[in-house]
Amino acid sequence: MEIKAIVYTSNTGHTEKYARMLGEKIGLPVYSLEKAQKTMPSAQKIIYLGWVCASKIKGYDKAVKLYDIAAVCGVCMGATGSQLSEIRRVNSVAEHIPVFTMRGGVDYKKLRGLNKLILKAVTKGAANNLAANTERTEEERIMLELMVHGGNCVCEDALAALLEWYEGCKG
Ligand SMILES: Cc1cc2nc3c(=O)[nH]c(=O)nc-3n(C[C@H](O)[C@H](O)[C@H](O)COP(=O)(O)O)c2cc1C
Repeated sequence: MEIKAIVYTSNTGHTEKYARMLGEKIGLPVYSLEKAQKTMPSAQKIIYLGWVCASKIKGYDKAVKLYDIAAVCGVCMGATGSQLSEIRRVNSVAEHIPVFTMRGGVDYKKLRGLNKLILKAVTKGAANNLAANTERTEEERIMLELMVHGGNCVCEDALAALLEWYEGCKG
């Protein structure tokens, strides 16, 4: 069955941005999971993108019940391509479904309530450790900046692995 749409769940906008970028690149319609549930027939084949919260891909549990998932993408603060086996395990993603991760960003102005508190609490220790280390790698520098000030790391390059897989699917 052909892939019909891109469906996403975003909290502060980074995942939505990737979904729309991907939609433009491969010419598929893009819907939030909320909208898709109202307008898209179930069992359609989709690419699903969700933001990562404590290694869970938000909305994936619901999406996998409603649709035929061709590939799943977690948008996170970690590096693009990181945490793949952890995310597959925590979300119980079936072996035949490819998993991708992309670095989104942290927007402290848009984060609210519990999500903001949890992120601050979880990153505090790691940020203190990184701040104390004067010989930080480039990756550690990016993580420290995201944890302390936030930032937007959405970029087209992060879609490369997903686009390569998609081209391969077309045969
Ligand atoms: C409560 C909370 C938990 C998070 N947990 C993780 C995590 O486990 N791993 C990770 O890499 N990023 C984690 N993040 C970072 C988000 O996945 C990242 O900010 C993402 O780009 C948000 O996407 P959105 O703008 O579409 O909501 C977490 C963020 C919040 C607020």
